Amino acid sequence: MVEPREADGRTALKSRQFDIKEIGLVREVKGMVARIVGLPSCISGQLVTFSSGVLGMIMGYDLHEAHALILGDAAEIRTGEQVYGRAEPLRIPVGDAVIGRVVNALAEPMDGQGAIAYAAHYPIFRKAPGIMERVPIAKPLETGIKILDTMVPIGKGQRELILGDRMTGKTTLALDTILNQQGKGVTCIYCCIGRSYSTLARAVQHLTAGDAMGFTFIVAETAAAPPGRQFLVPYAACALGEYFMDQGKDVLIVFDDLTRHAWIHRQISLLLGRPPGREAYPGDMFYTHSQLLERAGALSPEKGGGSMTFLPIVETQQGDVTGHIPSNVISITDGQTYLSTPLFTEGFKPAIDLGLSVSRIGSKVQSSAMRDVSRPLRLEYLQFKELERVTKLRANLSEDMAKKLTAGAVLRELLIQDRSQPVPTEHQIVLFEAHRRGVLATRSIEEVRRFKREFFGFLQQKNPALVEALKVTQALTDQITARLTQAYAEFFKPEGVRPL
Ligand SMILES: Nc1ncnc2c1ncn2[C@@H]1O[C@H](COP(=O)(O)OP(=O)(O)OP(=O)(O)O)[C@@H](O)[C@H]1O
Ligand SMILES: [Mg+2]
Repeated sequence: MVEPREADGRTALKSRQFDIKEIGLVREVKGMVARIVGLPSCISGQLVTFSSGVLGMIMGYDLHEAHALILGDAAEIRTGEQVYGRAEPLRIPVGDAVIGRVVNALAEPMDGQGAIAYAAHYPIFRKAPGIMERVPIAKPLETGIKILDTMVPIGKGQRELILGDRMTGKTTLALDTILNQQGKGVTCIYCCIGRSYSTLARAVQHLTAGDAMGFTFIVAETAAAPPGRQFLVPYAACALGEYFMDQGKDVLIVFDDLTRHAWIHRQISLLLGRPPGREAYPGDMFYTHSQLLERAGALSPEKGGGSMTFLPIVETQQGDVTGHIPSNVISITDGQTYLSTPLFTEGFKPAIDLGLSVSRIGSKVQSSAMRDVSRPLRLEYLQFKELERVTKLRANLSEDMAKKLTAGAVLRELLIQDRSQPVPTEHQIVLFEAHRRGVLATRSIEEVRRFKREFFGFLQQKNPALVEALKVTQALTDQITARLTQAYAEFFKPEGVRPL
């Protein structure tokens, strides 16, 4: 039988009537780990307080001593110091008031905007929803990134890994996806794990400039924070997200990035004396990340019907997707988007390598219009890339090849997208419908650029009802198709009214 959700930490807390308070003594401090004697009934994941006021969390224990992860300044802790423990899992405050704010792993504000009025407490480590509480993923999460929405679509409740080398636009891709959730009722969380202050500041600036802080908040521990808190921060982001999911809302969490999280976990494990495995990561590395990523999902209507979508980011070294962490996380998630350095330097942005990117769920939940226009795109684009490669050195091409190359170049131009400019779904549909019908096949790249830039505005001005109908139905009915054909012709009419 499947256990009810209530069998998790929260009810355990409620049913625990007794209030154990034990006092232990610090025996040794090594890096971010303290060894404590005298906490006989401690549990893993429990909060402890050192007499100097620093917090800690129990990471493990043996017959004689408990090992606590220090969540503050380890330099303040002395050997022989007292430690107070309650047999309770670590919980953080959660609530709606966190939206628009920047908080740390303990949900404390770090943006200097004063205290946050929280509504409840949630355990930081919570069991993922069981199978009976979930429903299959049925709604698309519109990213506003043309390549993703057409060829690597994401569903609400899915986990899609963003992976790539340094400086390939991973963070930008994730933040632009957040920007596109404007007005769509999705609560977004950007979780910064062990990155620099400048990266965090850039993300805050990107989200603020994109007007996204009305439905977004940031949970961050930078590289300067105590490693224990950097380890906890993705779990804290999950707990905060679960509060919104339990209210039936859709949540999107970006983890930037899990490579840093794995590094911290490796450091902690080595200090705890756990045996190192592949690439010196501990043996439970896979378990750690799967525990975290299992918390995504779409809940059943009885559970409120909320969902949590995860976009974890992983950094690769020299494009090696077979490293320990990338291959682990690829196998846990429901698909990956691979960003490649050569594409980025070529100017194809977002630099998504379609040959290595896949979404194992999202394509089932695409709207009918989106499915119609995007079905042939992937194969066409991959064939074009291959053709371009083999014909690079050949001067005289057959007519057929030349045609394919021109069509491919048009498609590439349509797919290129600048940062902070998410494209609404109905806009994407009219762009790719034009490509599908060959409207752009004979056009120069300049004309395609003009089409990409101006056509949707032109259509909105000329026929707002059509745009509205497309937005609502997301289907290419005969009537809509006929009107679109007319609009394409008018837009490209040589002597016709120049749009806008
Ligand atoms: N679609 C885009 N169009 C134009 N510029 C972009 C685009 N995507 C990313 N960039 C630029 O590329 C640079 C690197 O982007 P970003 O910081 O997102 O990469 P990253 O892979 O997250 O890097 P890091 O490895 O440092 O985390 C930034 O200056 C960003 O503005
Ligand atoms: Mg980044």
